Amino acid sequence: MLEVFPETAAVEDGELTIGGLGARRLAAEFGTPLLVYDERTMLEAARAYRAAAPNAFIAYGVKAFPNVSVLRLLAGEGLGADVATLGELTIALRAEIPGERLIVHGNNKSVEELDAAARAGAWLVVIDAPDEIELAAAAGVERVLVRTTPGVEADTHPAIRTAHHGSKFGLPPVQTLEAIGRARDVGLEVAGLHVHIGSQLLDDSAAIETVEWLAGFAERCRRELDWAPGVVDLGGGLGIQYVPGRVPPSIAEFVETIVGNLGSQWDSVDLPRPQLVLEPGRSIVGRAGVTLYEVGAVKEVMGSTKYVAVDGGMSDNPRPQLYQAQYTGLLANRATEPPNGNYVVCGKHCESGDVMIRDLPLPEPRRGDLLAVPSTGAYTLTMASNYNLVPRPAAVLVGDGEARLIRRRETIEDLLDLEH
Ligand SMILES: Cc1ncc(COP(=O)(O)O)c(C=O)c1O
Repeated sequence: MLEVFPETAAVEDGELTIGGLGARRLAAEFGTPLLVYDERTMLEAARAYRAAAPNAFIAYGVKAFPNVSVLRLLAGEGLGADVATLGELTIALRAEIPGERLIVHGNNKSVEELDAAARAGAWLVVIDAPDEIELAAAAGVERVLVRTTPGVEADTHPAIRTAHHGSKFGLPPVQTLEAIGRARDVGLEVAGLHVHIGSQLLDDSAAIETVEWLAGFAERCRRELDWAPGVVDLGGGLGIQYVPGRVPPSIAEFVETIVGNLGSQWDSVDLPRPQLVLEPGRSIVGRAGVTLYEVGAVKEVMGSTKYVAVDGGMSDNPRPQLYQAQYTGLLANRATEPPNGNYVVCGKHCESGDVMIRDLPLPEPRRGDLLAVPSTGAYTLTMASNYNLVPRPAAVLVGDGEARLIRRRETIEDLLDLEH
């Protein structure tokens, strides 16, 4: 079970510890629900990307967990940032990520967003729609990639599959060729191509297929446009393990396969090898994060279903509702006690669908226990809502026996401040 927890997770005297700190102490100091991020897990993931592809540019996919401290930490490892909105661009700038390390995305960028990207001196703006070309040029953007859809159907949830024909992201091949031509005509430097296959990929087959397709497409670009991509940005996508069972490839395996394939495929079409860009999000922060909840009501209902309710739920982690995402968990203050049955972990929200984990073996939970849910570092707090006017949780970064608040808990006053 600890294999889905962060690197530093351990059980000491029956209690879960992360970064050398006991769950009870963290909960007492910072309250619950609490997102605990393990610094070492995040740094090791960033270093694994850099080691597996030393010549690639690695841009952290900010959407996975936008946070100034995390951005600074990752920038210290040589990572840039991939941002998808003005808000994400602003947080990256707040973290002092220089413009030349920024990649700006969005399938519906506003003029304000394009202006901000140009002002920030973003290294690359990724063209995602035909009329964005003129808008980007007018905003003063200098360098672009064109996002294309190779028609690859990644083996992941349909909501996070993005490289198929019919995706709302990117342009199909013929429109991509037109976009490259038009962008060059209006004076933009078209540095290369972008493809994001999808997220939570559990093997490398879609990435291999995409690289093969891209090499053929690059060859077609040369023939038809006398232009070839100098940059190939393959987006993010590597999955993480959420529950014991199917294990995704390691960062090293996944990235080395891509690098090897890119080299051989480009050699086979006799084009100079492009600069590779990767934009990992989930695989950098996903496993680093554990959510601590306090157990409240426990009850058995008809059909002998045993519910254990926690003090958060679909507002701090909507992934079970969005993607039928699966999680596991353990009682952090009674981590070595044997289970006495299977429980349904539900949240505190007024929705019957507010269920986080079905069939979780636990020792009989009691009010006041702490439930730790691992692999919650990506696409949780960033997708959180205030449903039922529940304030969003705090986040702390732990390492070497110390915890640092990196995002304060929202208050009901924060929410009421929006009222007019
Ligand atoms: C363009 C782009 N890049 C990077 C990412 C990060 O993906 P992941 O968190 O799966 O690594 C995403 C996620 O959807 C994306 O859309």
